[in-house]
Amino acid sequence: MSEFKTIEFRDNSLILLNQTKLPLIEEYIKTDDYERIALSIERLEVRGAPAIGITAAYALALAFKFPNSNRKETFEKVYERLAATRPTAVNLFWALEKMKSVFYENIHGDDLYDKLLAKAFEIHNEDIQKCDLIGKNGLQIFTKKMNVLTHCNTGKLATGGDGTAFNVIRYGYANNKVIHVYADETRPLLQGSRLTAFELEQAGIPFSIVTDSTAAFLMRQNKVDVVIVGADRIALNGDAANKIGTYNLAVLCKYHKIPFYIAAPITTIDKYCKEGHEIKIELRNKNEIITIKDVQISKDSYDVYSPAFDVTPSELITGIITDTGVFNYPYDFSGIQN
Ligand code: MRU
Repeated sequence: MSEFKTIEFRDNSLILLNQTKLPLIEEYIKTDDYERIALSIERLEVRGAPAIGITAAYALALAFKFPNSNRKETFEKVYERLAATRPTAVNLFWALEKMKSVFYENIHGDDLYDKLLAKAFEIHNEDIQKCDLIGKNGLQIFTKKMNVLTHCNTGKLATGGDGTAFNVIRYGYANNKVIHVYADETRPLLQGSRLTAFELEQAGIPFSIVTDSTAAFLMRQNKVDVVIVGADRIALNGDAANKIGTYNLAVLCKYHKIPFYIAAPITTIDKYCKEGHEIKIELRNKNEIITIKDVQISKDSYDVYSPAFDVTPSELITGIITDTGVFNYPYDFSGIQN
């Protein structure tokens, strides 16, 4: 597999690496249609909180690629469509709001498309820098050489840059602080065994895939020194929503006295959300549970409950690694400017 690009804007089109096919097939989706991009977000062809925000920003710009007689109506329609794709990752709404400001500042201008596109590029480029800072800032959590456990995918595939939690691991490994990584499989859509494993392979970092239910047993054997995961939305008190199963890990860490870290850009902090219970949790389709790769494994008639995310209470989080530094419990992000 060649050096991949998760999100690329070229020839006035958006090119997305179709993550549902990885790691076995490298297939790209090229489109200038915001509806196709909205579908890509819903289907997790592109996923991960920062990546979703960047993708939505490009989609909003593309809606104004051609002359448009009713700009305000179009903007509202496209904004609503993109905002309805996935409810939990705040980066989506953060990016849409940034685009909204640029839209209304330039609503009557001849260069509306260029202005929107420039903002989308800015959001993308800023995320690249934020990923780098997260990786560098995260180095301070490695008090010795460590074995790391992570959940879901937080790398290049989930962001505009080199990742959040994954980039902390990458920097740790480059600085001789990470020995081995356990990548949780991450049921039901297997972002760990498909995407994180693929990125660990590319980065040359030694790893093992484990099923989600293996974590306690690993910890019991002293095989995990630290857990590092990402976040989709962080409340002002530090409660953090992330992929379902993250909360389990935080509880296990408390019991086994293992540090539990969240890594995320400051844009993942929701300045309108005081506590975790206010975070809307996405419920996924039952087919993702009763089938595996289109093979049906359980009955249609069975009820399924499939939240895509859970919320880890802040008191279980040892530290939150951001692009502006590492914060420790108790958290107070009120007054944050992002
Ligand atoms: O459903 P997904 O794959 O979009 O979930 C992604 C996660 O939960 C990530 O941990 C989170 O978005 C952080 S990505 C840097």
